[in-house]
Amino acid sequence: MIHEVIVTTINENERVHIAPMGIKFVDHADKKCVQISPFKPSQTLDNLLKTEKATVNFIDDVKVFAGIVTGREKDWDLSPCSKNEVAHLSNTNSYMNLKVSSFIEDELRPKIICNILNTENLRPFMGFNRAQFSVIELAVLSTRLGMIDDEKVKKEYDYLKIGIDKTGGEREKLAWSWIEEKIEGYFKK
Ligand SMILES: Cc1cc2nc3c(=O)[nH]c(=O)nc-3n(C[C@H](O)[C@H](O)[C@H](O)COP(=O)(O)O)c2cc1C
Repeated sequence: MIHEVIVTTINENERVHIAPMGIKFVDHADKKCVQISPFKPSQTLDNLLKTEKATVNFIDDVKVFAGIVTGREKDWDLSPCSKNEVAHLSNTNSYMNLKVSSFIEDELRPKIICNILNTENLRPFMGFNRAQFSVIELAVLSTRLGMIDDEKVKKEYDYLKIGIDKTGGEREKLAWSWIEEKIEGYFKK
């Protein structure tokens, strides 16, 4: 199963980078590990290779995903973790601090296997919401504009909008509007 999360990493100057990623839990060397698969080239990959640590944020505020893929809002409030660990998003539901344990090379998308150092729960999981699913799906679609058929994008947009209209709250509607603007910009060109 793939979990859509926000991964925070740091570069060699301790500058935090925030990126949406799909992660997996895998068994590696008899341990439950997290597998991150960043495409080449990416800042997340560079950071993981250089500093060998990350924090995975399990967060239901979909504005973070939308803000980053649209470039509307790339910086989000961070809170420090214990010494040596990468900061977590302040409004995350829960997080895990990770340490890179192995690197599986690939031309396009290497796999980074990480040990889980600790898990913290800050806010309860409040149940599934269709509008949040819609925002995540539209966010992914918006990173593939020009790579997938335009008609397919329009069709999926129409379908996903139902979830927003029927079940979205304020933050889902705002996140949706940011991505909608990005997609409209693409179709105007
Ligand atoms: C829900 C979601 C999941 C994503 N999963 C991945 C992923 O697993 N690997 C990846 O390289 N990019 C993924 N992306 C795209 C990256 O977030 C985006 O390209 C980002 O800018 C990564 O590059 P960076 O590390 O240079 O910022 C995902 C985007 C979204 C919205």
